[in-house]
Order: sequence, then structure tokens, then C-alpha cells
Amino acid sequence: MVETAAPAEPLCASADLDDGGRAWVFDVLEYGRPARAFVLRFGGQVVSYLNRCAHVPTEMDWQEGQFLDGDRRFIVCSIHGATYEPADGRCVGGPCGRGRLVALQVGEAAGQVYWYPSRDIRPVRFDEPAEDGMPGSPA
Ligand code: FES
Repeated sequence: MVETAAPAEPLCASADLDDGGRAWVFDVLEYGRPARAFVLRFGGQVVSYLNRCAHVPTEMDWQEGQFLDGDRRFIVCSIHGATYEPADGRCVGGPCGRGRLVALQVGEAAGQVYWYPSRDIRPVRFDEPAEDGMPGSPA
């Protein structure tokens, strides 16, 4: 397991992520604002990114958790077809130019996938008020 200052957040069971399959989508707070992220398995490794295209800041999956193209080789944005390398989130085609996806640090141990929050991207706490005073759940 990776050592970081923030405690690890369990996301899902390792068995929930098939290689090249559907991603696990989850809510986060980025700089205190609701956002979505996803974790998927690619080449045997778990990788995680904010669900936000580098072309236009919108969610990319064509159905919830479906991020990979038909060949299961690249992450592709359903809006205009920006294409990203799953291993590092770098744009490799389409209108994302030199952009890249925002990576989250994840790992797995003992059959569990974990996320390691950063200073900027934190877990949603449903029992804590958000910055707007509402309960921590994104709308
Ligand atoms: S919004 Fe993703 S390619 Fe345009």
C-alpha cells in the first residue's frame, strides 16, 4: 500500500474492476467543489482520473463507467472523441491537444482498491457540511 499523509479511502473490491472493463465512478471534492472521478483497470494496473475532459470540462463516459473505446485500448470522451492513454491520462488524439486527465493516486491491497486523497482532491463526507453549507453530497 502507498504511504501518504491522507488516509486511504476504500473504493471497491479489486474483483469489481475487470481489465479493460467498466470503471468505478465516485464523488470527490476538488478544491471544495463537487466533482466526479473514476478508477479502472488497464494492463493489470488500477488507474484513476477526474471524470473531466481536457477539451471542455465535462464528464466523458458514454454510459456511467464506460470510458474505453471499442478496442478497449484508449479512454475516449463521448462528446467529441478526445482520446487519452489510460496508463498516464495523456491526450493522444482528438481535440484535447497537449492536455491530459487529472490523475488521482490509487492502489490496491488484499483485494481492495484504495484512493489516496490529496490536498486538492478530497473525499465527500456526507455527514459534514460542504463549503456552501449544504450536506456534503454533490447535487
Ligand atoms: S468535451 Fe471531450 S472531446 Fe470535447
